[in-house]
Amino acid sequence: MGRLDGKVAIVTGAGSGIGKASALLFAREGARVVCADRNGSEKATAAEIGADAVAVQVDVAVGEQVANLVDTAVRTFGKLDVLFNNAGISGPSGLIHELDEEILDQLLAVNIKGVFFGIKYAVPRMLENGGGSIINTASNAGMVGWKGKAGYSAAKGGVVLLTKSAALDYAKSGIRVNAICPGMTWTGMAEAQAPAPPQDIKVPNPMARFGRPSELAAAALFLASDESSYMTGVAMPVDGGYVA
Ligand code: NAI
Repeated sequence: MGRLDGKVAIVTGAGSGIGKASALLFAREGARVVCADRNGSEKATAAEIGADAVAVQVDVAVGEQVANLVDTAVRTFGKLDVLFNNAGISGPSGLIHELDEEILDQLLAVNIKGVFFGIKYAVPRMLENGGGSIINTASNAGMVGWKGKAGYSAAKGGVVLLTKSAALDYAKSGIRVNAICPGMTWTGMAEAQAPAPPQDIKVPNPMARFGRPSELAAAALFLASDESSYMTGVAMPVDGGYVA
């Protein structure tokens, strides 16, 4: 028996890294999965899952595209139980006085508005269905400051409080809203910014290593499943002990 048997899940950022690992894991645990990404990579993830998946190309920063994503999930699979708002961007590093306004706008649009739109359009369909579970990917950079990453940290801190506020809004309606806060995880995002291969990088957390996408997917699965039925409004670090 799977931990998501009978459930329908949307995963954004499903073409790569944490989102891809989660979409594949959710499907292995019995969910039908809507794989969403902005660049076509979602098709390969959906193809790997097979008949229990569909791919939707979407820019999560555009509200009507997110509304269409949710509609497609319900039209295709009849309902929506789980939304994993995972798509995100980290942007270039730099001190605040070097950060362009356009970069800040992009960071806020994808990381905060993307999550906001996901919640906004998923909630009415979850209410029709008697409840659901929403998981947002924040970051440990949303719990403590990160030098050179002010825009990203501000956006991810916003995701943490968006999560907590949404949890309060819908706690009595059966919709749980929680966040995972990854630390340094070896994905396309980390690789794009890494100065060296992973084995040559000194990782500044107590475990002294990168996280694996599968370790973040496991946390998302727990929050998606009924095993976390008494949890809402939680921002869960999955970061090798960095914020301990
Ligand atoms: P990744 O770069 O491998 O995957 C992110 C996916 O999101 C990509 O497939 C990308 O195309 C998609 N995406 C980006 N902007 C989008 C948009 N506007 N609309 C739809 N899809 C979009 O990176 P990773 O690491 O798997 O990132 C997943 C989440 O984890 C992000 O929210 C990121 O901020 C967060 N995170 C990652 C950390 C890391 O060290 N890798 C640390 C902390 C948080």
